[in-house]
Amino acid sequence: MRNVKKKRKGIILAGGLGTRLYPTTKVVSKQLLMIYDKPLIYYPLSTLMLANIKEVLIITSPNDLELFKRLLGNGKEWGMKIEYAIQKKPAGLPQAFTIGKNFIGNSSVALILGDNIFYGSELVKKMKKADQFEFATVFAYQTNHPERYGVISLSKSNDIKIEEKPKKPKSNLAITGLYFFNNQVINYVKKIKPSKRGELEITDLIKLYINKKSMLNIEMLGRGFAWLDTGSFDTMLDASTFVRTIQERQGLIIASPEEISYRNGWINKIKLNKLANNQKNINYKNYLLSLIK
Ligand code: TTP
Repeated sequence: MRNVKKKRKGIILAGGLGTRLYPTTKVVSKQLLMIYDKPLIYYPLSTLMLANIKEVLIITSPNDLELFKRLLGNGKEWGMKIEYAIQKKPAGLPQAFTIGKNFIGNSSVALILGDNIFYGSELVKKMKKADQFEFATVFAYQTNHPERYGVISLSKSNDIKIEEKPKKPKSNLAITGLYFFNNQVINYVKKIKPSKRGELEITDLIKLYINKKSMLNIEMLGRGFAWLDTGSFDTMLDASTFVRTIQERQGLIIASPEEISYRNGWINKIKLNKLANNQKNINYKNYLLSLIK
């Protein structure tokens, strides 16, 4: 008899050195810095929550671990389970699956980079589709600067090609920092070797799924989407301005864990009311209370 499908777990990779943001990130992780009105990590966390993922592992650098714990706790108040692990040195994104092996167990997993912000109305639908796909899904986004990312292209015979930070990109489709893998990723990660720059590359891991035909699903994030990665001062500011503009216009808050948890049915009205009343920021408190009415 086939097992009942296990629920997908999530990993946020929130280590890294953040050298492009020095000296700001000399003593504190980029993911704890503010994007408009909340810490950056709230955005990727919310994305996983929108994918209906309740169990999340946060991987941080040793110095920042306690700060993340203080900020997010064990997730219980949001109806979640949040765990933590350390990445001693930023040796590449695939390390998430080695560090997170025990956490993943025999589940499938979604990995999101701690500095990636996704916003758009079809996001939930696309993540649902990705969740149902048996093997691996990447989310592609048209960008002006494909050379900064893993780039995906299709040959005439529709073969998928992936290149890491190519000097001459074959397309302008970047692979974004959100990846859905089946449980096999735990074994696949053992097969890849560090690249010339000494890091394990996520593109090498994805290539293993491409080698076996039709094991990679590509979800396109179209022009109605915003994908922001916030590694530099300019992109941090852009992201803050973007969030402010949408929030001001709509009166809705982007990436409120309390709201998503409530809408997902993970917490009830009584719990939301309690969370609202514990807020020290009066505007945020009133926003959460307005959801109950
Ligand atoms: P990067 O932007 O590549 O690296 P960084 O955050 O250290 O910044 P900089 O280039 O300015 O030094 O990382 C993208 C995201 O992935 C970011 O959220 C940090 C995270 N990351 C890890 O947690 N561990 C890693 O080994 C790598 C490569 C990245």
